[in-house]
Amino acid sequence: MPSPCSLILRNVSLVGGRVADISVREGVVSHAGASGPADRTIDCSDLLVLPAAVDMHVHMRGGTQSAKEDWESGSRSALAGGATVVVDQPNTIPPISSPDALHARVYEARSHSLCSFAINSSVTFDTPVKGMWSAGALAFGETFFAPSSYGEALSEGELRTALREIHACGALATVHAEEVADGNDTDLVSHDRLRSAAGELRAVEAVRQCNSAGCRLHFCHMSTNASVIAAAAAGSVEVTPHHLFLSHEQFEPTDALGKVNPPLRSEKERRDLWAAWDAIDVIASDHAPHTRAEKQAPFRDAPAGIPGVETMVPLLLAAVLEKKISLADVIRKSSQAPAELLGIPPAGFSPGDRADFALYPRSALPVDPDTLHSRCGFSPFEGLPAVFPRAVVLGGEVVYEEGEFSRGSPAWFAGKGFFPR
Ligand code: DOR
Repeated sequence: MPSPCSLILRNVSLVGGRVADISVREGVVSHAGASGPADRTIDCSDLLVLPAAVDMHVHMRGGTQSAKEDWESGSRSALAGGATVVVDQPNTIPPISSPDALHARVYEARSHSLCSFAINSSVTFDTPVKGMWSAGALAFGETFFAPSSYGEALSEGELRTALREIHACGALATVHAEEVADGNDTDLVSHDRLRSAAGELRAVEAVRQCNSAGCRLHFCHMSTNASVIAAAAAGSVEVTPHHLFLSHEQFEPTDALGKVNPPLRSEKERRDLWAAWDAIDVIASDHAPHTRAEKQAPFRDAPAGIPGVETMVPLLLAAVLEKKISLADVIRKSSQAPAELLGIPPAGFSPGDRADFALYPRSALPVDPDTLHSRCGFSPFEGLPAVFPRAVVLGGEVVYEEGEFSRGSPAWFAGKGFFPR
């Protein structure tokens, strides 16, 4: 006689119209259909149930940057936004550039994270690529092909060499492709001009040229329609909610809360980006928290970066309610596609799927920064309509419900090259 299920989500509306009970046993879906007894049952008749998001671009900070964010606050923010897996970016201080640094980062996350996680390796001219791969890096990058906060740019020659080595491991290289011109970076318009849309497009082409090895490429945070189309011909394409929902015209000219790399574009370019929706593989937040005090520095000195892990799926779901995009696309781009690209077991409704879900009401509310969990304490998405989850399930356990968190069993997803020491 099998043990009773730990959880049953009853009356889940699946994409395609079928309604099923989703039974969960030992962290994975055991059955989709009629159900029996369980330790806990949640009726989902009035809810939208989604496989939880895998946010493949999150800067969790920590260490000397803990005033901005750390694993405790950042993972709460992720869960409260319906993401149960985050892929941590390696431009920490110090960067994740040695196997020891990677092991220490895994230890830090294991000790403090409430959500599941993976850690990427940084890519510098002297990164021990093979060593990082066997230490458990999930992927390589974001690889800076232009300088950004806490990241120095690689030259074309260095990128070419790195891509050859990453390809030899069979790993994925994620690339920050931009071009930066000299000039006075005094406001959001000049920031957009100095890190221009045309420059981003040229950078995509330059990265493609550097990839004579044929490495699997993933283009991070593409900010315009033309870049999305060009990047799609060379690899997988990621777009952020801030480039989809925000333009620099929505901010006071010198308001550094809207400063980010690549920059927020014009309202017209933002609208054009939506026209490339079908060519976008992944929506990821590029969650890059900085403190409000840092953001209040004179514009040129203020750090670039926008927090977004908690608002990513909620903003997309508001767009679903407005019938702008489909629920199937949100599931695909926020959960299935990143898991597939990265080799993380998929969350979903079929037997064997990772039982990570987020349960949402069917109505939106304006984003209120006071209710968010990132330590940075602000959101440039303030006031936009968003649908926040009522409950979140991680490995079959309810870990977030009506604003309360509990510690479940978060997993570390190591890359395919992991070889335990
Ligand atoms: O605006 C940005 N901030 N872009 C990046 O690529 C890095 C990020 C950060 O780490 O703050």
